[in-house]
Amino acid sequence: MEIFKINGQHRLTGEVTLHGAKNSALPILCASVLVNGQSIIHNCPDLSDVRITLKILEDLGCKVKRQEDTVIIDATGIKTSQIDESVMRTMRSSILFLGALISRAGCASIYLPGGCDIGTRPVDMHIKALKSLGAVIKENGSSITCCADRLTGAKIILPFASVGATENIMIAAAVSKGKTTIINPAREPEICDLAEFLNKCGARIYGAGETTIEIEGVNSLHSCEHRIIPDRILASTYMSACAATGGEIIINDIRAAHLSPVFPVFNEMGCRLYLQQGSLKISAPKRLRRVKMIKTMPFPAFPTDSQSPIAAALAVAKGTSVIKENIFENRFRFVSQLNRFGADITVDDQMAVINGVKELQGADVFATDLRGGAALVIAGLAARGTTLVRSIGHIDRGYADFENSLTLLGADIMRIKDEEVSTEKSMEEKS
Ligand code: UD1
Repeated sequence: MEIFKINGQHRLTGEVTLHGAKNSALPILCASVLVNGQSIIHNCPDLSDVRITLKILEDLGCKVKRQEDTVIIDATGIKTSQIDESVMRTMRSSILFLGALISRAGCASIYLPGGCDIGTRPVDMHIKALKSLGAVIKENGSSITCCADRLTGAKIILPFASVGATENIMIAAAVSKGKTTIINPAREPEICDLAEFLNKCGARIYGAGETTIEIEGVNSLHSCEHRIIPDRILASTYMSACAATGGEIIINDIRAAHLSPVFPVFNEMGCRLYLQQGSLKISAPKRLRRVKMIKTMPFPAFPTDSQSPIAAALAVAKGTSVIKENIFENRFRFVSQLNRFGADITVDDQMAVINGVKELQGADVFATDLRGGAALVIAGLAARGTTLVRSIGHIDRGYADFENSLTLLGADIMRIKDEEVSTEKSMEEKS
């Protein structure tokens, strides 16, 4: 088991470049199953979730090659449409293979997905939508078998703008008979990126990023080359780390429009933001100001994935901030760990009240989920003394080479083995 060891209170300075968005890469890789030929995907981040997805593609019979940040998938030789239960359970987004495989192979056999423990996260909207497109679905405990000779377009009204359900419908309907309309789709930038990829392959998807998406089904998709958009959640994580340490950093490969919901929050915290030609300079004050209220909502509102990293920064702000989580019901599990640093945060139902403290103290904590784990790293960077963040497998799901990027910004953070901590402890006890 690996651990991050952090010696805190080093002000972050310097420049960092964003890697490709995890939440774009995963659906695009799943969609590559539909392509007759090669999908050449640039800016594909080397994350554990991406590695699992590539392993699924290989198991399905695709040829997969990685050359630095480019991944080439050739789905011509797909030989099975079954995904192994153990792999499925590690990653929720593997549900997106469902739509892709029915369209490609006529049948798909998968298990209910796993992923971060941030709520119950059902897949009812995915299943209902695929049924509307004509799929016959049999559920047996945690296994799902889904078949259709050829999916047929339909009008689908989503009761909630689910990112995953929108993506599954777009992928499944791209190669179908007739027209599909999605009313109330998710509008996240990653939805637009998926539509752009599919359209480059010959799909006809209109209105991604708007309140209605129309998909005219085509017979097949062809090879294409695509660059994944930069990771906006990674950007807000760096911004939070900079804010928490009173730093000044430049973040390269920024898409300002993707970050427009989070910029006002950093302004309210007293940070100064300068945008120039795809780069963002953020300069934090010595002591952050509180933020009155953050409410997480689907895009274009404040993203749920950014709330944990920002909560860590607000833990050292002057005054009381409030965060209301509206997407996932269990997204404050990291708070009990954050309080071990001396933070003063209370959670009542879906609301966190953060009474900023002057200083955090290093702590021995464990990551409860991906973004909550990033929040603990940020707390460690801001805290006096040494911090150990355990269970960092969660963090590796979404942050590539995190510790090295932070080190380049002046942080003192190392990835160490569990045993090294035990050895250090026993040496301390002996001396
Ligand atoms: C995606 C992102 C995740 C982000 C989330 C919200 C990926 C790989 N993950 O997750 O990082 O936090 O969007 O922006 O892109 N729901 C149902 N039934 C369904 C589907 C969803 O009830 O069939 C509920 C979920 O439990 C949740 C809410 O809808 O409460 C939003 O989920 P959704 O937008 O689908 O998130 P994901 O696609 O899982």
